[in-house]
Amino acid sequence: MRAPRLGERVIAPLGRRRCEVTRNLASGGYRIFSAVDPTGPEPAAGQFYMLATDSGWGGDGGRPYLARAFSVADAERQEGGVRLDFLVQAVGPGTSRLAALEPGEELWVHGPLGRPFAPPREVAEEAAGAILVGGGIGVAPLAIWRRQLLAAGIPARVLLGFRDRVNSGGLDLFDCSEIRLASEDGHTGHHGFVTDLLAVLLEGDDAASAAVYACGPPAMLEAVRGMCAERGVACELAMEAPMACGFGACFGCAIPHVDGGYVRLCVDGPVLRGDEIETALVPGSGH
Ligand SMILES: Cc1cc2nc3c(=O)[nH]c(=O)nc-3n(C[C@H](O)[C@H](O)[C@H](O)COP(=O)(O)OP(=O)(O)OC[C@H]3O[C@@H](n4cnc5c(N)ncnc54)[C@H](O)[C@@H]3O)c2cc1C
Ligand code: FES
Repeated sequence: MRAPRLGERVIAPLGRRRCEVTRNLASGGYRIFSAVDPTGPEPAAGQFYMLATDSGWGGDGGRPYLARAFSVADAERQEGGVRLDFLVQAVGPGTSRLAALEPGEELWVHGPLGRPFAPPREVAEEAAGAILVGGGIGVAPLAIWRRQLLAAGIPARVLLGFRDRVNSGGLDLFDCSEIRLASEDGHTGHHGFVTDLLAVLLEGDDAASAAVYACGPPAMLEAVRGMCAERGVACELAMEAPMACGFGACFGCAIPHVDGGYVRLCVDGPVLRGDEIETALVPGSGH
C-alpha cells in the first residue's frame, strides 16, 4: 500500500478492524496509546477513527455503547501493519475505558474517516508555511500534521496552550524543542491564552505567507477563526461534534455552513476552512 500524498483524503475500508494495543503511557494529564492496524491504510493528518475496546465496552450499565471519535495523533507503517497513536483525555465512560487499555488488549477501529488538513498552498496560494495552534486535547492531530509538513519540507511553527497542569499533555508526540507554550494558570510558558501567542505571530511581516491550522476547544477555535478573518490569513479548523456513526449516516454531527445549509462534520469535516462557517461555537461540541 502506498503512503498518501500530503493532505490526500484516505478512504476507510468497509467495516471495523481488530487491532492489538502495543503501549499505553502517561503524557502529562493525558495518555497516549498505540495499536497496530494490520490491514488498514496510513491515515492523513486531521482524519479520525471510531474506537471501541473489545472487552469492557457496553457493560452491564450499557455505557459506553457507541464507538468514540478520536483524531489520529501519529501513524507509521511498520512490520505487521500501521501503528496508530492516539492521545486521550478521560472525560466519561468511553474515554476512561480507552485510557485504561493495556498492551495485548484488543481495540476495534473504523477509519481513517473524514476530511484531513490541506497543505498551505492549497489553503491559500501565497501560503508557504504553517502555524499550528493547539489547545488541550486538541493538540493530537497537530502532532502528525507537524511531522508530515516537516517531512515535505514545509516550515511549521507550533503554538500549544493548556488550561492547567491536569488538563495538559501530549508534548511527547512533538519531538522538537521549537514549540511555544501557553497556560492559563501559568504553570508553563506564557501565562495566558495560546491565542496571545498567535496574535504576536500574526503581527509579523511573514503572517501573510502562512496558513493557520487549529484544533482545540470551541472558544479557542472561534478566537483563531476571528483573528485570521480580521487579518485576511487563511485557516483550517479541526472541529468536534458528538458523533454517533462517524460516516455520514446519522446526521448527529451536522453544523451550519456559511452558505445557509448544513455540513456533516464526520464526512465534510472534521477539518473545515475558517471561511466555511460563521462561528466555531457549535452547540454540543467541546468539553
Ligand atoms: C473528530 C473528533 C476527534 C476527537 N479526538 C479526540 C482525541 O484525539 N482525544 C480525545 O480524548 N477526545 C477526542 N474527541 C472527543 C471524544 O470523542 C469525546 O470526548 C468522547 O466521545 C467522550 O466519550 P465518553 O464516553 O468518554 O464521555 P461522554 O459521557 O460521551 O461525554 C463526556 C463529556 O464529553 C462531552 N463530549 C462527548 N462527546 C464529545 C465530542 N465529540 N466532542 C466534544 N465533547 C464531547 C460531553 O458533553 C460530556 O461533557 C474527538 C471527538 C471528535 C468528534
Ligand atoms: S456522526 Fe453520523 S452523520 Fe456524522
